[in-house]
Amino acid sequence: GSNGMEVDIKKIDQDVLSVLKEVGREAAKQKVSAYIVGGCVRDLILKRKSLDFDVVVQGNAIALARSLAKRKSVSLKVYQRFGTATLTYKDGICIDLATARKEVYPHPGALPVVSFGNMQEDLFRRDFTINAIAVRIGADGFGEWFDPYGGLEDIRKGKIRVLHEKSFKDDPTRILRAVRFEQRLGFCMGRKALALLKQALKKGGARTVKAPRYFAEFEKVLKEENPVAAIRRLNQLEGLKFLRGSQGPSMALMNRVQRFRVSQQKKDLFCNQDWPSIYLMGLLSGKSRTFVQKMSKEFQWTRVRTKKIQESLAAPEIVKELQQRGLTPSNVYRLLHPLSVDTICFVCAMAISRQVSHYVQGYLTRTCHVKLIITGATLKQETGVSGLHIGKIMEALLLKKMDGKVKTLREEKKEAQRMAVALK
Ligand code: CTP
Repeated sequence: GSNGMEVDIKKIDQDVLSVLKEVGREAAKQKVSAYIVGGCVRDLILKRKSLDFDVVVQGNAIALARSLAKRKSVSLKVYQRFGTATLTYKDGICIDLATARKEVYPHPGALPVVSFGNMQEDLFRRDFTINAIAVRIGADGFGEWFDPYGGLEDIRKGKIRVLHEKSFKDDPTRILRAVRFEQRLGFCMGRKALALLKQALKKGGARTVKAPRYFAEFEKVLKEENPVAAIRRLNQLEGLKFLRGSQGPSMALMNRVQRFRVSQQKKDLFCNQDWPSIYLMGLLSGKSRTFVQKMSKEFQWTRVRTKKIQESLAAPEIVKELQQRGLTPSNVYRLLHPLSVDTICFVCAMAISRQVSHYVQGYLTRTCHVKLIITGATLKQETGVSGLHIGKIMEALLLKKMDGKVKTLREEKKEAQRMAVALK
């Protein structure tokens, strides 16, 4: 039955359907029942495309995965320690298999102690009712709904409800998940969920989880198409203290970053950016290098990310410089060359100025590709200057070339000689 909702699992994408049916048939052969659960069911109901499926098995999940992996064009990864396995099909469909389980949290924020359980218990350990719906994929009863906590109804109403009072206390990363789903799906937290979330935040719930784990969940917020909606909401709830201390971020700046990102969608200048890092630049704007260093250590950021964000602290000054008229390409080069493209993107977002975009465009499409024809060896031969001076002359020559003051190899040689004489 479809519980009165207009959802019929048999109507989904053919490729997906045939994979799920195959899993179901194999499960029946092994005499175990299998269900799809969690986010993939929610997304099916909401008609959002998804290629990742969580399958819960009442029986041995790894054994089931191993026999499914015998077919061609499937790859298998087994996680013995967790009793789970992942099957990846050639068309990008990904199936995670796990045995139905229940969880006990020894203390708030701790990793749960896991033991086998039935389907109902497996759903009960989950974050929200909208993520606690199962659909049977066994050969018998394929497509049957198992929805003991009213998840379908909550999806229909657009409500985010927790399954029990301790949900946020058990796992404070759910604070971030609640806000992420709310903003992504246009849903609304139920009264009780909201009260429990606020309570968990007030009691410093976030601090019972290891910082990198909490941040990993925040990274999922930053990976959303419009994270700024969720950031605004978190800020209202005072849920960004883990990142900035007491002072909130500038929402005006965050909005600029979002508007800039949307404006770039049909252009190819900034089409492949590390947006999570760029949002972090916005969130940490106005902080000090040492503060960023501290965050980096606490959340285990990569060196590349840390460097980008530290560079971005100078963005206001760089914007000011770039707002002057009449800068030469080499002037712009000196300002932008030390920066990553993501940091340059942030500078553009912060500025929202024709002048700045114009300079940046010139730099990224032309100036930064300018190369000398002359090599260091030739230069040494021609001028006879020492090693230390070579680098200086090459650099100065490059700047001249950017500004169009030298063009051909002959001009490069002539100019190099002139510079060498001046240095002697
Ligand atoms: N889950 C949970 N508590 C968490 C994380 C996950 O209960 N802290 C459960 C939920 O049932 C969730 C499922 O595990 O639906 C899968 O988790 P995940 O892949 O992180 O989330 P999705 O719901 O699939 O969300 P997304 O679409 O963002 O991947």
